[in-house]
Amino acid sequence: MASQVIDIRQFGARQFRPLLQAESQAWLEGLHWDYAPSAEIISAYLNEKRLLGFALLEDGRLTGYCLYFREGPKGMIGDLFVAGRRSCENAAAPLVERTVETLISAPGVRRIEAQLPHLNIEQISPHFQARSFQVYRRQFMTFHLTNGTEDFGQAAGGPEPLERMPSPSSDFQFEPWERKYDHEAAQLLHRAYQNHIDAAINDQYCTFAGAKRLVESIVRQRGCGDYLDQASTVALHRSTGRLAAILGLTEVRPGTAHVPQIAVATPYQGLGLGTAMLRSSFHKLKRAGFLEVSLTVTTLNSRAVRFYERLGFRTFREFGAFVWDRP
Ligand SMILES: CC(C)(COP(=O)(O)OP(=O)(O)OC[C@H]1O[C@@H](n2cnc3c(N)ncnc32)[C@H](O)[C@@H]1OP(=O)(O)O)[C@@H](O)C(=O)NCCC(=O)NCCS
Repeated sequence: MASQVIDIRQFGARQFRPLLQAESQAWLEGLHWDYAPSAEIISAYLNEKRLLGFALLEDGRLTGYCLYFREGPKGMIGDLFVAGRRSCENAAAPLVERTVETLISAPGVRRIEAQLPHLNIEQISPHFQARSFQVYRRQFMTFHLTNGTEDFGQAAGGPEPLERMPSPSSDFQFEPWERKYDHEAAQLLHRAYQNHIDAAINDQYCTFAGAKRLVESIVRQRGCGDYLDQASTVALHRSTGRLAAILGLTEVRPGTAHVPQIAVATPYQGLGLGTAMLRSSFHKLKRAGFLEVSLTVTTLNSRAVRFYERLGFRTFREFGAFVWDRP
């Protein structure tokens, strides 16, 4: 089969339509996520020639694409998709190689980050490792609200029913996460993720400015679905009034909510706050007609994985995060 990797600016939205439809289908079936709003933005930007990336042409047919962008010294691989094949990793390899080569040789690029939820981590990793990328395993997890939230926290043979654990509720009060909390939320994120594995994968956690952008992307830019302002919660420490924890929730398709962020300030971790916040929000989501909640977690963040599994979340997909730092 004759394949070519071509600058994406040579194509318009019309040629990309079947591929974006296939990608939207993959997001819906594989990740329970409505990709249509993103596909619309990609289509508009394709017509305006505003996107950087490469398209894969096989026997004259458009079968895949990879998008990248720059944030100062960082290159981000924003999207990589190959349609309709059993081993799409092999087809993705030329796209990975061309994109990585382009970013590495671009003046000023010191770091590259990528997260590829549609590709098999085992098969795609060697192509990144060959260019000295670090590979991190991540898990897509889901919790079925239809199983009932009454026994939430006792799943998978958890050690103790929540009722027998000390309740954090007397020291903390929960409020909807409103915009007035965003600044303090970014400070909390920046501190809670110091020396954290997720800061190795996404360096926005390493600075306050980066943590602010992360908050913005959840609450304003629809980076992870539509923000759910009533279910998203902050916990305030009653005696000091300080922000103790945040839980962001978005809607990624009708009936499916997503947790783009949960963080408890370091001094308050392990007190049951994370459990209590999820529990209270899940009751709200269930009442609002949601059926499931998804999230992603880094496998090396073993405490968080254990925390989610104990609450009843189950892994339904593993994927790779890839990071390159210029030596
Ligand atoms: C992961 C995280 C959100 C969990 O929140 P938390 O408030 O610390 O979690 P909880 O206290 O509800 O439960 C965690 C631990 O406390 C225990 N616990 C739960 N409820 C408890 C209670 N009422 N009293 C005492 N201990 C309790 C759990 O058994 C668990 O123990 P383990 O970590 O030893 O397995 C929090 O630790 C955090 O912010 N970490 C840093 C950021 C992060 O990793 N976020 C997730 C990214 S995907």
